[in-house]
Amino acid sequence: MMKKTIRDVDVKGKKVFVRVDYNVPVNSDLKIMDDTRIVETLPTINYLIEHGAKVVLCSHLGRPDGLVDNKLSLRPVLARLSKLLERPVSFLEDVLDPTAPKMIDNMVDGEVLMLENIRFYKQEEDNDEEFAKTLASFADIFVLDAFATAHRKHASTYGIAKHVPAVCGFLVEKELRMFDKILSKPEHPFVAILGGAKISDKLPVVENLIDKVDSILIGGGMAYTFIKAIGGNVGKSLIDNSKLDLAKELLDKAKEKGVKVILPVDNIGTKEFSEDAEAKEFNSGFFDDEYQGMDIGKQTIKAFKKEIKKARTIVWNGPVGVYEYDKFKHGTNKVAKYIAKSKAISVIGGGDSVAAIQSLGVAKKVTHISTGGGASLMLLQGKTLPCIELIQDL
Ligand code: 3PG
Repeated sequence: MMKKTIRDVDVKGKKVFVRVDYNVPVNSDLKIMDDTRIVETLPTINYLIEHGAKVVLCSHLGRPDGLVDNKLSLRPVLARLSKLLERPVSFLEDVLDPTAPKMIDNMVDGEVLMLENIRFYKQEEDNDEEFAKTLASFADIFVLDAFATAHRKHASTYGIAKHVPAVCGFLVEKELRMFDKILSKPEHPFVAILGGAKISDKLPVVENLIDKVDSILIGGGMAYTFIKAIGGNVGKSLIDNSKLDLAKELLDKAKEKGVKVILPVDNIGTKEFSEDAEAKEFNSGFFDDEYQGMDIGKQTIKAFKKEIKKARTIVWNGPVGVYEYDKFKHGTNKVAKYIAKSKAISVIGGGDSVAAIQSLGVAKKVTHISTGGGASLMLLQGKTLPCIELIQDL
């Protein structure tokens, strides 16, 4: 179902409350390390400014758990946004201040104001009804542009949309369009590359994609549960023993449906989970007992390359090795390079996969880099995002 966007409503002179996701990486000197999530909201904000809206921006940063934490203030984001927009952005420190409604009412058309970190209030994550109503009182229209938080039922993402007309911003529109494109009308061959450690998140993705893709390449920590499920010895590698049966079931189902699943055939292993540990190569299923898998090996990289080369649609979520250690980034960086070289429609989500693409300077060669981790995973699992359900249908 197509959803309404800011193009479908009259915003002139209206108080437009925009939920953005400015949960950006900030270092100990409060310096923003990557402003992609801010930059990606500029089309929505600029459109609203140009069309004479009073723009109220709301975001969270980190997980302050309902307490004020100055290290998680949105002030550095305010400065960066103001620079990017080339105009001043005012700041509202406390949404519960009795003078707040007046301050917002007095905004002039085209003015932009940002609220302090909304997770400084416990009521936000509790989706507190009164709090949602207070936020709604700042709005004639609610705009959801926080794709990366669209899976969270919080007061500023979900509760508020029950009290004011809700539409999508351009970032949410773009994200939904890209995921819909690859998941409902993919060009074949469609290749999914899945990695990362948390197999409980990824098995539902495998389950959902089996009906859509031609092949699934599996790497990273999640691969070892699959390898163990078919009887391999994976030593001390990361395993979720509670998922062995499901992993085996999914491999059987893929086989039945003619979907090729490529598991690692060789791996780099170490005795300790550390960058300095001495690395040794193992064929999959033949680990020494005291070793654990840290990256995919050369043969696996070759097999992945062959599949990626044939693809016309690619989706990638999760690193195929331990990305936090330079020494074990090799497989993930190779995957990123092959995707960048490919002419396929490519959609990438998840922190480390995106980081690999960006660090290699090949982001422009990818069709779509999602701003959402958990949210994009949910779409790949075939689920709908709760906050999107509250947006008015077109
Ligand atoms: C994210 O970075 O994935 C979003 O901003 C959501 O953050 P959360 O996992 O703390 O809700």
